[in-house]
Amino acid sequence: MAVIIDGTAIAEKVRNEVRSGISDLVRERGEAARPSMALILVGNNMVSHNLVRMKARDCEQVGIIPRIIELPEETHEDALLSFIETLNRDDSVNAILCQLPVPQQISTKKLLAAIDTSKDVDGFTARIDADKTDIAACTPAGIMRMLREYDIDVKGKHCVVVGRSNIVGKPMSIQLLLHDATVTVCHSKTQNLSSFTKQADILIVAVGHARLITADMVKEGAVVIDVGMNYPEGKPVGDVDFAEVSKRASYISPVPGGVGPMTRAYLLKNCLELAKQYRR
Ligand code: GUN
Repeated sequence: MAVIIDGTAIAEKVRNEVRSGISDLVRERGEAARPSMALILVGNNMVSHNLVRMKARDCEQVGIIPRIIELPEETHEDALLSFIETLNRDDSVNAILCQLPVPQQISTKKLLAAIDTSKDVDGFTARIDADKTDIAACTPAGIMRMLREYDIDVKGKHCVVVGRSNIVGKPMSIQLLLHDATVTVCHSKTQNLSSFTKQADILIVAVGHARLITADMVKEGAVVIDVGMNYPEGKPVGDVDFAEVSKRASYISPVPGGVGPMTRAYLLKNCLELAKQYRR
């Protein structure tokens, strides 16, 4: 039976680190240095509304000042880009997040490119030549921390990432490479997926397909990290068949209580790191 990775507990530890890091920063540089995050919400997507409110509450809990900016569904791309420009120059915010997805008249690519890298708290504009000290996207950063907390070294291990999204799959594979893993990335067009997943020492799944990964697709003793959050029957279910795979794996992250809380905590951690580097 696998050890169940406790994302909730590690996330609490990360939040405590952030809270004390913010106290230190404010003590050293004054109240003006307190981190502040702009959370931009465009349109009427209710899931996004709830997520942004949750992120703002997370900010308040650790001493980050959240500033929610709600823009109408019909906002023009140019208007949003120039608004982001204003925030880039605004010294009272050191972090900018625009909740995705945005309405279809707005290019996500242009929008993300408009956010100043020094304020990109999501870590979405990370460069291909980023190093270990650069801000990483929150989910991959959170997963790397989970592995460290359980002394799981990725060096030389075969890590198989299922999913190639800009938010998780691609930046995850880069983080693993930076830490000397051998990385295979699989996706929706991969033929014979299980022939790859069965080779994984560490299997990371981020595709948004409930219980895609079954026990026969996993090597005995593998570490399995489940990024999925699906609601096929109303309750949250991961991309991994937890009940069966947990009998074969050595470590497994549950859904809920695994990667989700880590992503939320690393948004706060990224905000603090940006604030430390920020010079007004
Ligand atoms: N939409 C879904 N996940 C995310 C995220 O991590 N950041 C942003 N900005 N939008 C999202």
